[in-house]
Amino acid sequence: MTRLENFISRMTAQRDILDQVCVEVAKMEGLVIELGLGNGRTFHHLRERLPGRRIVAFDRALAAHASSIP
Ligand SMILES: C[S@@+](CC[C@H](N)C(=O)[O-])C[C@H]1O[C@@H](n2cnc3c(N)ncnc32)[C@H](O)[C@@H]1O
Repeated sequence: MTRLENFISRMTAQRDILDQVCVEVAKMEGLVIELGLGNGRTFHHLRERLPGRRIVAFDRALAAHASSIP
Protein backbone atom coordinates (compact mmCIF):
# COMPACT_ATOMS: atom_id res chain seq x y z
CA MET A 1 0.00 0.00 0.00
CA THR A 2 1.36 3.43 -0.89
CA ARG A 3 1.48 6.23 1.68
CA LEU A 4 -1.28 7.99 -0.26
CA GLU A 5 -3.47 4.88 -0.14
CA ASN A 6 -2.70 4.49 3.56
CA PHE A 7 -3.76 8.09 4.23
CA ILE A 8 -6.96 7.67 2.20
CA SER A 9 -7.70 4.43 4.06
CA ARG A 10 -7.31 6.10 7.47
CA MET A 11 -9.51 9.05 6.51
CA THR A 12 -12.16 6.79 4.98
CA ALA A 13 -12.21 4.65 8.13
CA GLN A 14 -12.55 7.77 10.30
CA ARG A 15 -15.45 9.03 8.18
CA ASP A 16 -17.19 5.63 8.13
CA ILE A 17 -16.88 5.17 11.92
CA LEU A 18 -18.21 8.68 12.54
CA ASP A 19 -21.16 8.03 10.20
CA GLN A 20 -21.98 4.80 12.05
CA VAL A 21 -21.77 6.62 15.40
CA CYS A 22 -24.15 9.28 14.03
CA VAL A 23 -26.70 6.60 13.11
CA GLU A 24 -26.64 5.38 16.73
CA VAL A 25 -26.55 8.87 18.27
CA ALA A 26 -29.55 9.94 16.15
CA LYS A 27 -31.62 7.37 18.07
CA MET A 28 -30.74 9.02 21.40
CA GLU A 29 -31.78 12.29 22.97
CA GLY A 30 -29.52 14.88 24.54
CA LEU A 31 -26.48 16.86 23.59
CA VAL A 32 -23.54 15.48 21.68
CA ILE A 33 -20.06 15.89 23.18
CA GLU A 34 -16.86 15.90 21.15
CA LEU A 35 -13.63 15.53 23.08
CA GLY A 36 -10.84 17.06 21.00
CA LEU A 37 -12.08 19.76 18.60
CA GLY A 38 -8.66 20.09 16.96
CA ASN A 39 -8.94 21.46 13.44
CA GLY A 40 -12.72 20.99 13.64
CA ARG A 41 -13.10 18.53 10.77
CA THR A 42 -14.98 15.95 12.82
CA PHE A 43 -17.07 18.69 14.47
CA HIS A 44 -18.00 19.97 11.01
CA HIS A 45 -18.93 16.42 9.96
CA LEU A 46 -21.04 15.84 13.10
CA ARG A 47 -22.84 19.14 12.52
CA GLU A 48 -23.73 18.06 8.97
CA ARG A 49 -24.78 14.54 9.95
CA LEU A 50 -26.75 15.53 13.05
CA PRO A 51 -28.67 18.67 12.02
CA GLY A 52 -30.46 20.42 14.86
CA ARG A 53 -28.50 18.62 17.56
CA ARG A 54 -26.57 20.61 20.14
CA ILE A 55 -22.89 19.64 19.88
CA VAL A 56 -20.48 20.73 22.62
CA ALA A 57 -16.79 20.41 21.77
CA PHE A 58 -13.83 20.55 24.14
CA ASP A 59 -10.15 21.24 23.60
CA ARG A 60 -7.31 22.67 25.61
CA ALA A 61 -6.71 25.33 22.96
CA LEU A 62 -8.77 26.76 20.12
CA ALA A 63 -7.09 25.88 16.82
CA ALA A 64 -10.07 25.04 14.64
CA HIS A 65 -10.67 26.30 11.12
CA ALA A 66 -12.90 29.40 11.10
CA SER A 67 -15.73 27.44 9.46
CA SER A 68 -15.69 24.83 12.20
CA ILE A 69 -15.70 26.74 15.47
CA PRO A 70 -18.72 25.89 17.65
C1 LIG B 1 -6.42 14.33 16.87
S1 LIG B 1 -6.87 15.92 17.46
C2 LIG B 1 -8.60 16.02 17.12
C3 LIG B 1 -8.90 16.18 15.66
C4 LIG B 1 -10.26 16.78 15.41
N1 LIG B 1 -11.34 15.93 15.89
C5 LIG B 1 -10.42 17.11 13.94
O1 LIG B 1 -11.25 16.52 13.27
O2 LIG B 1 -9.72 18.00 13.47
C6 LIG B 1 -6.93 15.71 19.23
C7 LIG B 1 -7.27 16.98 19.98
O3 LIG B 1 -7.49 16.65 21.35
C8 LIG B 1 -7.00 17.69 22.16
N2 LIG B 1 -6.72 17.16 23.50
C9 LIG B 1 -5.92 16.10 23.80
N3 LIG B 1 -5.87 15.91 25.12
C10 LIG B 1 -6.67 16.87 25.68
C11 LIG B 1 -7.00 17.20 27.02
N4 LIG B 1 -6.53 16.50 28.05
N5 LIG B 1 -7.85 18.23 27.22
C12 LIG B 1 -8.34 18.94 26.18
N6 LIG B 1 -8.06 18.68 24.89
C13 LIG B 1 -7.21 17.66 24.64
C14 LIG B 1 -5.77 18.19 21.43
O4 LIG B 1 -5.49 19.53 21.77
C15 LIG B 1 -6.16 18.01 19.96
O5 LIG B 1 -6.63 19.23 19.40
